Amino acid sequence: MDADSVSFAADLAALAWQVELGADEAIAEEPVDRFEVRAAAPAARAATAAQPVAPAVRTAVVERGSVEIAAGCGDLASLRAAIGAFEGCSLKQGARNLVFADGDPRARVMVIGEAPGREEDREGLPFVGRSGQLLDRMLAAIGLSRRAEDPRAGAYITNVLPWRPPQNRDPSGDEAAKMLPFLFRHIELARPEFLLLLGSPAARAVLSAEFGVTRLRGKWHEWRGVPAIATFHPAALLRDPGKKREVWADLVMLKARMGG
Ligand code: URA
Repeated sequence: MDADSVSFAADLAALAWQVELGADEAIAEEPVDRFEVRAAAPAARAATAAQPVAPAVRTAVVERGSVEIAAGCGDLASLRAAIGAFEGCSLKQGARNLVFADGDPRARVMVIGEAPGREEDREGLPFVGRSGQLLDRMLAAIGLSRRAEDPRAGAYITNVLPWRPPQNRDPSGDEAAKMLPFLFRHIELARPEFLLLLGSPAARAVLSAEFGVTRLRGKWHEWRGVPAIATFHPAALLRDPGKKREVWADLVMLKARMGG
C-alpha cells in the first residue's frame, strides 16, 4: 500500500468509528451552534416526528413541569404534540426525531421498551432495527402484530423515553424521571388491557421496582389496575439466545390471560 492508500484506509476507519459512536454530520470549517439553529428553524426536523406545535403550546411547556403538562393532554395527538414541544429534557437536543409510538392505539396490548436507537431516531418510529424485527417475531408467535387491521390482534408500541440518548448511553435518572409522567399519561390515554414491559429499564420505570427484569419476569404485576408482564428485551435475546425459553414462557402467560 502506498502512503495515500494507507491514509485513505485510516480515514475511512476513523469515520466508521465515529458513525458507530453516533456521529451523523461532518464537521464544517466554521463552528455551528446547533441549539441556535434548532431554535431558529424547528420546522427543519424530519417529517415523521414533526407535528406542528402552536407557539402558545411551546411557551407554556417551557414553563410548566411534565406532570402538569401530561395531565392536561386529553388525547394521544395532544400528548404527542406536548412531548414534541417539551424542552425540559436534554435528550431532545441530541435527537433527530421524536419517537412517540407505532401500531394500533386500540390494541389490547401495549408494549413498552427503553429508548430509541439509531434506526428508530432516524425513522421516528420505535423498534424498527434488529431488536424491532425480533420483537415483531415475538409478537407474531402469540398472534399479535403492530400492523394488524383487527385491534384485537394488534400491538401498540412505545418506549420509556421518546428521544435517543446520545451514543445510546444509559439515560440519567433525571432524564427518565422528567419523561415518566408522559409515559404514564400515554398508558392512561391508550387504555390497554395488558402491558408488556421489555427489559429492566421499562420494567423498573413502570412498576417502580428496585429489581431488574430477571426477578420481575415470570409473574403478573399491575400498573394502576392494568395487568403487566415483564420479560427480557429483544436486544438481550439477540445477545443471549439462551433466554428464549423464558421469553416464550412469559409470552405464553400473556397469551393465556388474553384468552388463548
Ligand atoms: N430498543 C428499545 O428499547 N426501543 C426501541 O425503540 C428500539 C430499541
